[in-house]
Amino acid sequence: MASNSLTITDNSTGKVYGIPITNGAIRAMDLRHIRTGPDDFGLLSYDPAFMNTASTTSRITEIDGDRGILRYRGYPIEELAERSSYLEVAYLLLHGELPTLGQMDEWVYQITHHTWIHENIKKFMDGFHYDAHPMGMLVSTVGALSTFYPEARQGDAETRRLQIVRLIAKMPTLAAFAFRHSLGMPYAYPDNGLSYVGNFLNMLFKTTEVKYQPNATIERALEVLFILHADHEQNCSTNAVRSVGSSRVDPYSAVAGGVAALYGPLHGGANEEVLRMLRGIGAQGRIPEFIKQVKEGKAKLMGFGHRVYKNYDPRARIIKRMADEVFEVTQPSPLLPVAQELERIALEDEYFVSRKLYPNVDFYSGLIYQAIGFPVEMFPVLFAIARTSGWLSQWQELLADPEQKIARPRQIYLGQGMRQYVEMGKREEDAPEIG
Ligand code: SDX
Repeated sequence: MASNSLTITDNSTGKVYGIPITNGAIRAMDLRHIRTGPDDFGLLSYDPAFMNTASTTSRITEIDGDRGILRYRGYPIEELAERSSYLEVAYLLLHGELPTLGQMDEWVYQITHHTWIHENIKKFMDGFHYDAHPMGMLVSTVGALSTFYPEARQGDAETRRLQIVRLIAKMPTLAAFAFRHSLGMPYAYPDNGLSYVGNFLNMLFKTTEVKYQPNATIERALEVLFILHADHEQNCSTNAVRSVGSSRVDPYSAVAGGVAALYGPLHGGANEEVLRMLRGIGAQGRIPEFIKQVKEGKAKLMGFGHRVYKNYDPRARIIKRMADEVFEVTQPSPLLPVAQELERIALEDEYFVSRKLYPNVDFYSGLIYQAIGFPVEMFPVLFAIARTSGWLSQWQELLADPEQKIARPRQIYLGQGMRQYVEMGKREEDAPEIG
C-alpha cells in the first residue's frame, strides 16, 4: 500500500480497503465503497457543523490556527494592513495578484462609478420601522438588487465581473442609507471625489457642509478594519454564500445568504454582542462575577474563541494596536479598561487557557466602531461591507471549480419508521407535544 494512504479493514466482512490521502485529507466518497448499502451509498462520514470536513480546495486565504497566521493569496495580513488599501486587497482576493498601477486605476474607477443605487431601493428602506436592525435591512436590500439586474443570472465572465463591481461598490451605499434611515436623516449621496472609505464616511455622517472631509485617522482605521475583515476562508457566512451560490443563483442572492449568516451572534454579530457584554459588566470590579457566570455556562465571553484560531487571532492584535490611534482623535472608550482587564484575566485563567480561547477579530473592533460614532447595530454591517470582496472571491472560485456541484449533504435518519395515517378522532390522547 502507498505510504500516503490508509488501510481500512471492515470488521463485519473482513474486507480491506486502501484509501489514498491527498493534501492531508481522504475523500469522503472513497468511503462510499465500504459496506455498499441498498441504494449503493455505503459508509457515510458524519461531521455536524463540519468540525473536521474540508468542503472545497481553495487558493484564496490561508489560516494557520495554531500559529495565528492569516494570509490573503500568500501575503501576510500584517503587511496588507500596514501598506495596502481595501480596494487593492479586494482586487488581490478576486484576481489572485496585486494590481499594477493601471489595473488599480481602472478598478477604482469601476467601483467609484457604481456606488449609486436605484432610487426605488430607497422605498424599501423607507418601508422599515425606524428601529429596524440594519442587518435585516441589508439582507433584504442586497437580495432585492437581484431584481434590478436580472442579467446577473447569466453565467458569462463579463456579466459576473460587472455584478462583482456593483456589489462591492453598492454595499457601503446600502449600509449608509440604512444608517441614515435609523436616524431619520435624509440620505447622503456618494461623492466620487473621495476614497472608497472616505465616501462611506461621507454618506454616513455628512450634514450641512458643502463637501464632507473625512478625518484621515478614522478613514485609515476603517480602511484597515475592512482589510482585516475581507476574507477568512470557509467561515460560516462564506459557507452560506458557497452553498447558495452552488445552485447557480445570481450573486446578489448568494451574498444576501452570506449577510444573513453573518447576522448571527456567534459570527459577525459577535462584535455587537461584545459591546453589550462590556456594557453589562460595566466596571472592572464586576469582571470576576461575569467570569464566574461564563464558567457556569450562563454567559459566553463574546469576542473570544474561534473554530480555527487556537492562538491569538492576528487580526485582534492589529485592531488592539490601532485602537489607541483612533482614541487619540475621538473620545477614548470608557469600556476599554474593562475590555483590557477582561482580556488579562481570561488569558491567565485555566478555564479559557485549557479551551484555547483567545480574543478574536470581534473583541476590540466594536470599541473602535463605537468611538467613531457607530451604534452597535451597525457593527455587523461594517463586517458585511468588508467581507463582500471575500464572499465574491469564494463564489467566483466555486463556479470555476469543476468538482463543485450543487451542495446537497446526506443525513443519518433516526426518525420514525413507516406508519399508517390515523383519523383525527382516533389518535392517542397523550400524543407528544411538537418541538
Ligand atoms: C467570527 O469562522 C471564522 O473564521 C469566523 C470569523 C471570520 O472572520 O469569518 O473569524 C468571524 O465569527 C469570529 C467569532 C465571533 N464569535 C464570538 O466571539 C462568539 C463567542 N465565541 C464562541 O461562540 C465560539 O468560540 C465560536 C462560535 C467562535 C467557536 O465555537 P466552536 O469552535 O464551535 O467551539 P465550541 O463552541 O465547541 O467551544 C469549545 C469549548 C466549549 O466548552 P466545553 O463545552 O467543551 O466545556 O469552548 C467553550 C465552549 O463552551 N467556548 C466558550 C467560548 N467559546 C467557546 N466559552 C465561553 N466563551 C466563549 N466565547
